[in-house]
Amino acid sequence: MASIQVEKVRKAFGNFEALKSVSLEVRDQEFTVLLGPSGCGKTTLLRIVAGLESETSGEVLIGGEDVTGLPPRARNIAMVFQNYAVFPHMTVYDNIGFGLRMKKMPEADVEAKVQRAAAMMHIEEQLPKYTGQLSGGQRQRVAVARALAMEPRVLLMDEPLSNLDALLRMEMRAELKGLLQESKTTTIYVTHDQVEAMSLADRIAVMYQGEIVQYDEPIDVYQKPETTFVGGFIGSPPMNFIELSASEVNGRSYGRIGDSRIQMPAGVTGDVVLGIRPEDLEVVTDAPEGSFAARATVVEPLGPHQQLTMTVGGQTIRVTAAPDLEVWPGASLDLLPNPNRIRWFDSRSGQAIG
Ligand SMILES: Nc1ncnc2c1ncn2[C@@H]1O[C@H](COP(=O)(O)OP(=O)(O)OP(=O)(O)O)[C@@H](O)[C@H]1O
Ligand SMILES: [Mg+2]
Repeated sequence: MASIQVEKVRKAFGNFEALKSVSLEVRDQEFTVLLGPSGCGKTTLLRIVAGLESETSGEVLIGGEDVTGLPPRARNIAMVFQNYAVFPHMTVYDNIGFGLRMKKMPEADVEAKVQRAAAMMHIEEQLPKYTGQLSGGQRQRVAVARALAMEPRVLLMDEPLSNLDALLRMEMRAELKGLLQESKTTTIYVTHDQVEAMSLADRIAVMYQGEIVQYDEPIDVYQKPETTFVGGFIGSPPMNFIELSASEVNGRSYGRIGDSRIQMPAGVTGDVVLGIRPEDLEVVTDAPEGSFAARATVVEPLGPHQQLTMTVGGQTIRVTAAPDLEVWPGASLDLLPNPNRIRWFDSRSGQAIG
């Protein structure tokens, strides 16, 4: 087992910069998720760590050892791909043992390692079956078992659940989390599914246009996004962004939301964006200081809560409200943002202020 350090890695495909000086540290036994929209460079970064792709510049260290330029087989890593690449005409046993036999390991050792990996993935009963006879979720487990059987220093996974249907995907997510907790292998896991990232990661590296824009624990990425991109990418519905401009009244700085005035924290001036998550807007009745009125346009009763689409001062926001709140399209509600959950952003750069 080992840590992973990616240092100032750049990758250009012709004139296109797929990675712009990316640095990332994954601690020994840590589970890091690379999360970002399609085309942001997740697979490229993973393939560079694996040695399947060469970097234009920069370094990769595994367990403190510089592996830049080394081929994949010299890095002691194992990779699980989106399509699993299990061999359908081979038994589960032979699939899991495939890499070990390639290494010319004695058959008794192959057997011990196959049994151990199969037990870890709870597929001992499937060993004699052909993988073509298995369900998607079982095939998935074979792919992970095959990777773990190699006892790699580092496990790299690229969207391993994306071929599964929604229900199975959710089941496998929880299962994978439990199973990988036991294996304690340093892991980089790629996904563009934010729920998967939140669920699995010790830390999430959010990528955007070839850069890591934030690298934090899931709860911090969620509650303290460093840019409007992160706040908008994570959360469903995403964080609300309300544009306002600060003006001074008696030496204090205020911004307007609709007909209300809300006080800005010290140091926040000019054109700014107030970021607030839908569940952090409380519906209040006595219009307290700091609240503002908004009009509901769409009401969606979703069971555990109601999802409201509302407008205020020409801007659209989303509010998560209690299931029993009486509200209808056209109704006006007073909303109070939880002051501890407000994030301020510079309206031009999108960077968090303070
Ligand atoms: N071999 C290549 N030649 C040219 N451009 C490439 C090559 N591989 C990747 N790219 C480009 O680099 C960018 C990053 O690709 P990458 O596959 O890393 O994205 P990704 O984040 O994994 O996206 P997805 O979520 O769709 O898998 C994309 O714009 C892609 O078109
Ligand atoms: Mg990809």
